[in-house]
Amino acid sequence: MRPGTADDLPRLMRLWKAEVAAGRQDMLPNERTLRRMLARFDWEAKSRVVEDDGRMVGSVLVMSRPSPDGILTNVYAAGESEVFLAAVEWGVRLSRAAGASVAQVFVGKGQGDGLGAIGLTLVRPWLRMDRNLDRLPEVAAVPGYMLADATTVPGGSWERMFNRTFADHWRFAPRGEGEIIGDHAPELCLMALTSTGGSPSGITIGEVEDYGDDPRPQPVGLVSSVGTLPEHRRRGLATWLVVEMLRRLRDAGARSASLYVDGQSPMKAYDVYRKIGFEVATEAEVWEATFS
Ligand SMILES: CC(C)(COP(=O)(O)OP(=O)(O)OC[C@H]1O[C@@H](n2cnc3c(N)ncnc32)[C@H](O)[C@@H]1OP(=O)(O)O)[C@@H](O)C(=O)NCCC(=O)NCCS
Repeated sequence: MRPGTADDLPRLMRLWKAEVAAGRQDMLPNERTLRRMLARFDWEAKSRVVEDDGRMVGSVLVMSRPSPDGILTNVYAAGESEVFLAAVEWGVRLSRAAGASVAQVFVGKGQGDGLGAIGLTLVRPWLRMDRNLDRLPEVAAVPGYMLADATTVPGGSWERMFNRTFADHWRFAPRGEGEIIGDHAPELCLMALTSTGGSPSGITIGEVEDYGDDPRPQPVGLVSSVGTLPEHRRRGLATWLVVEMLRRLRDAGARSASLYVDGQSPMKAYDVYRKIGFEVATEAEVWEATFS
């Protein structure tokens, strides 16, 4: 094992593609997105790669963020059986040494063999739901509300809305404005506001991403950050926002749509999506190590 470097990225991409092909992971962002995500990543301290005869056979990257539950890390490990487990173990140890409260590992359904033995517990399913974009449901505007996007909504509002609507989401971790809307197309950052007073009530963010040889019609319109403030829930806002987002993603060139949802969402968010035509396409498992 040695620390990875940004120059390893092309070889890591090949390794990670093999993970998707083997069903251990669900999908791989394209290289441009990964480079953006890893622009300020501390490779030396937070990554390791495993080589065998010059071939890259394993990797682990650890990303962390503060949350109300303490520091939360995501351990992104790749490789076959023993290599994978060794990579996870390295990431979990680093997480604990860095003072994390929780280290999370996402794996394909049924792919978590051996994780229990190294101190992780299977905590919940994580679903990817897909939908085609051929015929979108007709959804009427919710009386008393209007929709706006980042062409008119002032900066700063997205961060506030994301952090307030997601405050009761499992393992919520606050995010900054750049991370939420970043370089997203402004018309794919949607907000519901009250018609009188223009008070922000719900949001969703979309992006169009090409996943290469993935079986979904490409590019895929990814719907994320769907959130309604508690006092505005159960009025149809999330349904309206997501259907409008699907229309905009299709206009932006997407040929299918996907979103991710907590399989144990207490607000049953998956039912909201199911009602507008999304179906579960893949199921991942979330494993966690927790440290006192
Ligand atoms: C999940 C969440 C986005 C749903 O937002 P919402 O605006 O309440 O969603 P909707 O109003 O469109 O639908 C919610 C329910 O209200 C029902 N509903 C819609 N209009 C209604 C109305 N006028 N009267 C009563 N019920 C109504 C819907 O049928 C739906 O029922 P279901 O729960 O049985 O499926 C919201 O609970 C939330 O922000 N949760 C925290 C963040 C989160 O978990 N986001 C999802 C991440 S994937």
